[in-house]
Amino acid sequence: MSDDARLSFYDEVGGHETFVRLVDAFYRGVADDEVLRPMYPEEDLGPAAERLTLFLEQYWGGPSTYSERRGHPRLRMRHLPFHVNPDARDRWLAHMRTAVEELALPPLHEETLWDYLQRAAFAMVNTFEPTGIGPAQGARGAGTLPLHPDTTKESS
Ligand code: HEM
Repeated sequence: MSDDARLSFYDEVGGHETFVRLVDAFYRGVADDEVLRPMYPEEDLGPAAERLTLFLEQYWGGPSTYSERRGHPRLRMRHLPFHVNPDARDRWLAHMRTAVEELALPPLHEETLWDYLQRAAFAMVNTFEPTGIGPAQGARGAGTLPLHPDTTKESS
């Protein structure tokens, strides 16, 4: 088999339709989650769902539309404004688990996808403060160290 004929994981699991189903099911869970829902800045979860779909498609070998629209993923950095503590992570993973199971993928594919999602979710944790304490919800008040030295300081 030539390299060209080798299927990506994206293709093997069913391509675009599969990722749309996964993310739609995931956001149905988020919509009812009292901790996660208020973290999403937009009224409508549709645009956030689209960003996650495009990211996952790109990660697994599908089209690179995510980076064309959003640039380098820098996911940990993009999550810094949000209060991602172990509770938020576990809620995120619980909704994702339900969504992954709905896909009913072959066991090896399911395991590969799930293993990645778990590792990524653990890597996204950026605070151990309990929910309700610390940075404001809704992308305001990062409550984290600055990403770059402050070059705006007025100095002589
Ligand atoms: C661990 C718990 C997590 C929480 C609470 C969380 C929460 C959020 C929130 C509130 C947003 C902003 C919504 C938006 O504007 O798109 C966001 C964006 C995003 N998240 Fe997460 N997330 C988590 C884990 C993950 C993981 C594990 C991934 C990837 C596997 C991921 C991928 C993304 C992507 C791609 C975006 C959009 C980034 C952009 O282009 O602006 N998230 N997340």
